[in-house]
Amino acid sequence: MAAHFGGLTAVGSSPGTTPRTLREAPTVSAVSVRGLIRGFGPKGVLNGVDLDIAPGEFVALLGPSGCGKSTLLRALAGLDHDVKGSGVISVPDRVSVVFQDSRLLPWDSVLGNVTLGLRDHDADAKARKALAEVGLAGREKAWPHELSGGEQQRVALARSLVREPQLLLADEPFGALDALTRIKMHGLLRDLVAAHRPAVLLVTHDVDEAIALADRIVVLDSGRVATVRKVAPEIGTAVDAAGHEALRRNLLTALGVDVAASSH
Ligand SMILES: Nc1ncnc2c1ncn2[C@@H]1O[C@H](COP(=O)(O)OP(=O)(O)OP(=O)(O)O)[C@@H](O)[C@H]1O
Ligand SMILES: [Mg+2]
Repeated sequence: MAAHFGGLTAVGSSPGTTPRTLREAPTVSAVSVRGLIRGFGPKGVLNGVDLDIAPGEFVALLGPSGCGKSTLLRALAGLDHDVKGSGVISVPDRVSVVFQDSRLLPWDSVLGNVTLGLRDHDADAKARKALAEVGLAGREKAWPHELSGGEQQRVALARSLVREPQLLLADEPFGALDALTRIKMHGLLRDLVAAHRPAVLLVTHDVDEAIALADRIVVLDSGRVATVRKVAPEIGTAVDAAGHEALRRNLLTALGVDVAASSH
């Protein structure tokens, strides 16, 4: 089913089937973006983005501040109806989004926040299982203000996973956390993704986070995908692996950092 939002064409899939635009494609994608153009008033932000994400693939999106990372993520999430644009987007039926701020309802319990909008008869049981998966078993009755920032993000992850997404969109989900909590959240996200296998698009400013988590890293620049790098599994999990430092420097250079100057 194709839907039109202010000049943007979003092509969704029928339940349980391959996205329509991809039926004849050689490789099936969870996400397919073609020629995506987005702008606010006269200001162009995305100027022809092409991007594919395979089912179960983890893609990290890097780019300078203001380059359009959140704009792209919001377009994939179907959250930008009032933005001018064109292009074709194909995403799966079940898409979950996690933001930097957990966006929990302050007047509802942890359990209530996770089950919010779920109509399944076993919603509570599913939510309890998801909370246990993110390490919050026993905190179901707590209020959001009783949780630390890291715990609130765990609830946000549980809320997204309980919907069994085929695509998880995350916009700097760990950006507001301290370094140690962030590292713990990396391990948690890696385990959750390995268990549930959604396709993932993670927006981040952090090159090391991207290398640690992603199968593939995409750099957005001047409104387009400027650089694409695959991350070998052994590079992602070990900072001393051959190729890790070269990939890191390569990505920093793509982001406009003068690596030679910054290493002195
Ligand atoms: N609602 C809006 N109205 C007008 N301009 C906007 C709006 N939202 C974003 N922009 C502009 O679009 C550009 C891209 O914004 P976007 O939030 O996508 O950047 P970003 O890459 O996510 O940046 P950051 O890394 O700082 O989060 C920016 O120049 C921003 O000012
Ligand atoms: Mg952003």
